[in-house]
Amino acid sequence: MVQARHVSHNFGTHWALKNVSFSLNKGEFLFLSGPSGAGKTTLLRLLYASLPLVRGQAEVAGFQLKDLSGRHVVQLRRQVSVVFQDFKILKDRTVAANVALPLEVRGMPARIATKRVNAVLRSLGLEKKALCRCSELSGGEQQRVAIARAIVINPQLLLADEPTGNLDRDLAMHLMEVFKQFHTFGTTVILATHNRDVVESVPGAKRLELVDGHVTNANWQAPDLEIAQTSELPNSRPGCGPDSHKGGRQ
Ligand SMILES: Nc1ncnc2c1ncn2[C@@H]1O[C@H](COP(=O)(O)OP(=O)(O)O)[C@@H](O)[C@H]1O
Ligand SMILES: [Mg+2]
Repeated sequence: MVQARHVSHNFGTHWALKNVSFSLNKGEFLFLSGPSGAGKTTLLRLLYASLPLVRGQAEVAGFQLKDLSGRHVVQLRRQVSVVFQDFKILKDRTVAANVALPLEVRGMPARIATKRVNAVLRSLGLEKKALCRCSELSGGEQQRVAIARAIVINPQLLLADEPTGNLDRDLAMHLMEVFKQFHTFGTTVILATHNRDVVESVPGAKRLELVDGHVTNANWQAPDLEIAQTSELPNSRPGCGPDSHKGGRQ
């Protein structure tokens, strides 16, 4: 489902990812851990094609990420969902409208979409908020809306960037049950977190630790743990990287 070989990524002179390699089979659950600034979000953005892949090779859901055309980005995102760290929900629209959006885009008849949306809202304890505007919700509720919107399409691959970050422990554990349930139905999951309770809530999951852009640890054999030296990476001039804040797609 996901293969990354020697993936590196720079923002100007700063290498946020350095020679990252790993692979993930269909139906597996991977935790991406590591301190703030380690490169977790950058890796997820590359896998979602919201940053261009410039160095290394990566394949996601059968798509080679290098030189991916706009049309293929759209096709990739029919199968891959993401929960961004900053939610990216439409605050002036209702909870139900936000969650229905990906189904509308896919042309699903409204009657079927409504049923699907209601089921997902129930599973996340949001059914009473369905008709509230997102701007009226707490941060934790907005986070759950972002998760609902990501899972409503039954993606093959779910990428989640610190999805329990704003939540208290009980709610975080409840959300992990939702992720686990999706995983049981066959969805491949990559979840970035630095919360140990969250990692331990899925026994048997793969774990990949990033520190300063390197893979420093993994609980399985496959990743290539060679530690790349920054000096092996080409020099880049400030502002000349593949994405200097603005270059990436959302
Ligand atoms: N758009 C950007 N422009 C410049 N530097 C960035 C950008 N995004 C991330 N970085 C830098 O890349 C490194 C990795 O960031 P990030 O992937 O967000 O780490 P994490 O998600 O593990 O906290 C950090 O040093 C961060 O400051
Ligand atoms: Mg991050």
